[in-house]
Amino acid sequence: MLDILETEKSFILKHLKEGDVAADFTMGNGHDTLFLSKTVGENGKVFAFDIQPDALKSTEKRLKENGAFENYTLICDSHHNADKYIDRPIKAGMFNLGYLPGGDKTITTKRETTLSAIKTAINLLAPDGILLIAVYPGHEEGEIEGELIHEMLSELDRRQYCCAKFRIINSPTSSYFYIVESK
Ligand SMILES: C[S@@+](CC[C@H](N)C(=O)[O-])C[C@H]1O[C@@H](n2cnc3c(N)ncnc32)[C@H](O)[C@@H]1O
Repeated sequence: MLDILETEKSFILKHLKEGDVAADFTMGNGHDTLFLSKTVGENGKVFAFDIQPDALKSTEKRLKENGAFENYTLICDSHHNADKYIDRPIKAGMFNLGYLPGGDKTITTKRETTLSAIKTAINLLAPDGILLIAVYPGHEEGEIEGELIHEMLSELDRRQYCCAKFRIINSPTSSYFYIVESK
């Protein structure tokens, strides 16, 4: 059976290599930050964002417990401000939208800042880079976010970007994802 998380990672791994720069735009409990940190290795760099201080604590703990290289910067700010912190092009960026699992469900990503953050992330993408945006349509804000992202990505110039959507069509409330690849 299809494993959506493994599928997401397989797309990222086609673009992200040892020594590259990556960003986790929704750090949460740090699973994606750890994955990116391990992939880019000692000579790479990962920037990770969340608006909840608890997410930074939880991620720091996960990175330390898993022996991650000190190749990361954890930032307590909204992802739409990412270009204030990231001073170089990124090879991969991950958005895992929604709320912190096990946390306060009212603190969720919101359409205005999400769209603004995705635009910022697209502008930060290096040639042959990838953005992965996981959407959770099982809650109302997630469903709307997904539709708006679809509209926005549909309008990107295909000579510069390839935008695609990966969705399990017989499970409409399951998470799905978009990818944006830069040429
Ligand atoms: C589904 S969780 C992310 C899970 C995470 N990637 C992991 O591996 O555990 C979504 C996260 O986005 C964060 N978030 C919500 N709005 C945000 C914003 N404007 N900027 C950055 N992070 C935000 C939430 O606090 C929450 O921790």
